[in-house]
Amino acid sequence: TKILAFQKALLKWYDLEGRRLPWRSDHDPYHIFVSEIMLQQTQVQTVIPYYQNFMTVFPTVLDLAEASETKLLKAWEGLGYYSRVRNMQKAARQIKNEYSGNWPTSAVQLQELTGIGPYTAAAIASIAFGQPVAAIDGNAFRVFARLLKIDLDITKRQSRPVFQTIGDHLISQERPGDFNQAVMDLGTSYLTAKNPEPENSPVREFDESFADGTTLDYPVKTLK
Ligand code: ADE
Repeated sequence: TKILAFQKALLKWYDLEGRRLPWRSDHDPYHIFVSEIMLQQTQVQTVIPYYQNFMTVFPTVLDLAEASETKLLKAWEGLGYYSRVRNMQKAARQIKNEYSGNWPTSAVQLQELTGIGPYTAAAIASIAFGQPVAAIDGNAFRVFARLLKIDLDITKRQSRPVFQTIGDHLISQERPGDFNQAVMDLGTSYLTAKNPEPENSPVREFDESFADGTTLDYPVKTLK
């Protein structure tokens, strides 16, 4: 089917061109969790050294749960939005106390942890545990809106569940974590906010907005 062909093209491109990032070298939920929280408000190139240092200072979720505030804030110094790291420690303590140190594997359970919203829960569930849940961030909104000419305003709250349903329908059952990360990479390097789809896009043949020259009309956003 067309969806399987799309997954195949996207994952083939990801295998060849996907970014090799430190948190992509294994599927440890703690590694995915820390990287995703850092990446929420900070760019990849800034996050890399912070992530590496954080893993040296707090190698496991239990180390994070038991960390002193001084040491915790020191590891975050310069990243800003300190509520992120405070919430991370609260979530680590929930893992320790409520789950005996073992991460829950479903996006629904993960979302109950402090500071973990639908996007982060989906990223952890798919990348660490192979659950077929689409991680809907700004990249996914843009990529799916352009490919499928989705006319919903992405600034409206009601649009998210629609994109979630579409993403959950498109996601690879075999490689959901790679599929989600391929969409992220596609959204940052190919289907970017400013550029129309480039010559060598791996998904051009699946791009409905490219087909009729309307790429720049997507995603739809109300001007604020
Ligand atoms: N931004 C958010 N999550 C990411 C990830 N896993 N890889 C690259 N960029 C990201």
